[in-house]
Amino acid sequence: MHIQRIFSNATFAMARLMNIPFFEWAKLRNKPYHLLVPAATYAPWVTDRDFLSTYYKVRPHSLVNLYQAWELWKMAEQLEQVPGDILEVGVWRGSTSIIMGKKLDMIGSPKTVYACDTFTGVVKAGDQEDNYYAGGEHDDTSLQFVAAHVKKFGLTNVRLLQGIFPDDTGHEVADKQFSMCHIDVDAYRSGRDVLDWVWPRLAVGAVVLFNDYGFPITKGITQLVNEENGRQGRVVIHNMNGNGIIVKTEA
Ligand SMILES: C[S@@+](CC[C@H](N)C(=O)[O-])C[C@H]1O[C@@H](n2cnc3c(N)ncnc32)[C@H](O)[C@@H]1O
Repeated sequence: MHIQRIFSNATFAMARLMNIPFFEWAKLRNKPYHLLVPAATYAPWVTDRDFLSTYYKVRPHSLVNLYQAWELWKMAEQLEQVPGDILEVGVWRGSTSIIMGKKLDMIGSPKTVYACDTFTGVVKAGDQEDNYYAGGEHDDTSLQFVAAHVKKFGLTNVRLLQGIFPDDTGHEVADKQFSMCHIDVDAYRSGRDVLDWVWPRLAVGAVVLFNDYGFPITKGITQLVNEENGRQGRVVIHNMNGNGIIVKTEA
């Protein structure tokens, strides 16, 4: 207990030191933001060779952190028991689709990862809820690049849909049910449209993960997830790795 207290105090002191320049940089002084350095140490990914080898291969082409990648990996496995495929909106260079597709492949799942992106950058950005994204960011990719990236992993369970989701490509999967939805779109309106579209298509027990929860440049997504707090039929979880999670608890 004593050691735990010392460790926790040291972590807190480190977080405070790191916070000073962080607050200034992000203009977040007196706002509910604080650099998170949880003092917990359980890290099962450290001994998961399959995960680490997949993550380190995709990392040069990914914007998600190790902890978020681990959560996608484990969630894809756990949600095997919930009916429905996986939807991802916000694929960029394909890495997060590969992480989920690889796990499904390893456990012999028949599910498909529907990987949706414009492949020409962020859309529907710049509303008053968005504090950084204006539209067009992350256009340094292409459908061809992602198709080749997925192929390198020998995956046949990742299907790419090009266009704004759901406006351009929603009709292609409108009759599907989903057990998991990863939304990594950076802008409020884009995320709101995806969530509203997918919600009636989620099985009970399905999970939505918002990649951009709580980061200083994606305040619109934090607001969006917070708006879901307290709504009927869902539980909202603030995971401190930057994933905002919504579990569907009733039809
Ligand atoms: C931060 S990147 C995704 C990063 C990726 N998940 C990774 O592996 O790190 C955000 C992506 O969302 C896409 N995007 C944003 N809104 C979209 C929408 N409504 N439909 C399709 N793609 C969208 C952008 O084109 C961009 O590639």
